[in-house]
Amino acid sequence: MTGDVNRNWTYSEYLNLRELLELQGEERGISSDEMHFIIVHQTFELWFKQIIRELTEVRNILCQVPVPEDQIPVAVDHLGRTTEIFRLMANQWTVLETLTPQGFLAFRDGLGTASGFESYQMREFEILLGLENSDRFGGIDPLDSFRKMVDKGEAKREILERLENTESMPSLAESLMNWIARTPIMGSIYGSKGDDDVVSEYVERHLQAHGKMCDIPPHSSEKMKARMMSAHEGAVSFLKPGGEISRSRAGLLFIESYRELPLLTWPRKLVDAIVELEESMVKWRHSHARMVERIMGRRIGTGGTSGVDYLDATSRYRVFKDLWSVRTILVKPQSRPELRNADFYGYNSSN
Ligand code: HEM
Repeated sequence: MTGDVNRNWTYSEYLNLRELLELQGEERGISSDEMHFIIVHQTFELWFKQIIRELTEVRNILCQVPVPEDQIPVAVDHLGRTTEIFRLMANQWTVLETLTPQGFLAFRDGLGTASGFESYQMREFEILLGLENSDRFGGIDPLDSFRKMVDKGEAKREILERLENTESMPSLAESLMNWIARTPIMGSIYGSKGDDDVVSEYVERHLQAHGKMCDIPPHSSEKMKARMMSAHEGAVSFLKPGGEISRSRAGLLFIESYRELPLLTWPRKLVDAIVELEESMVKWRHSHARMVERIMGRRIGTGGTSGVDYLDATSRYRVFKDLWSVRTILVKPQSRPELRNADFYGYNSSN
């Protein structure tokens, strides 16, 4: 066991086990059902603590300019661990499902207005990831809720300050997209002379290929024609929001389109790791909603929301929207623009 080398720890001292095992509220004479409810919540909160640590490391790596190349694998490892924690937590709902609706009702009144809705660690990692308030259900500002709680003496000011501090720093999503914006495209380095022209040519060539993909036989239905036209318009507005090329989206498209290039191996692994993380988080949110539906149906939550409907709405949140959207506009490898400057990416015709 590691730790303070000058001290001979016992297992229990090292883990603060005595203190930890006194935190379940048994002195209140709780039932086994309630103790299990508390332990599951506490376990989640402990994992949230680790998630915040892991994601902070990733954000700190990605917000550097430039990002040291040897730190990308480290970021991928932190993301991988976070994903596994979400997967584990998604499976943990099944333990709660051993609680019957009646078993839950037996102690639910005692919760008052306490709800996972007030989990400040959950809000912290959402903010750290970069979930925008405008994307939250009803445009809720979580800091606003905590400000009110501080005013009423229901939450500590340090918690609010911690959340405000996280909000004032670049989020993981923002740092990631700034880094992706610097991806060399067709061998052209970000900010170099002529880069705008190279990127613009790449985007136009991709859009041509996409346009062809959306061409459908003349006898197709009007509905189908409209759908394909709108798909192509979607690709144009994704790559050229407001008519201007987005270099970050072009970079992302390039990484996804030429995944086999050796120089792009780590960028694509990082992008994959983020997508996997968000997917695991969405599944975790979704299974929370299913567990809640099973245990308490569609009654309103102790936090005052509509309950299951609210939770289902949260499982539609996407922080890394561009990473999901780019999938919609890819073309098959045979149709993608021919690669220029292959040597730059560690690839040449002889290998
Ligand atoms: C019987 C067990 C549970 C029930 C019935 C339940 C129910 C609910 C409901 C109805 C909400 C919506 C907010 C509200 O109005 O209260 C909610 C939110 C939440 N719950 Fe649970 N929950 C349970 C267990 C847990 C556990 C074990 C955790 C682990 C920490 C948890 C974490 C959360 C979080 C973080 C939210 C906020 C979600 C968001 O706003 O995105 N819940 N829960």
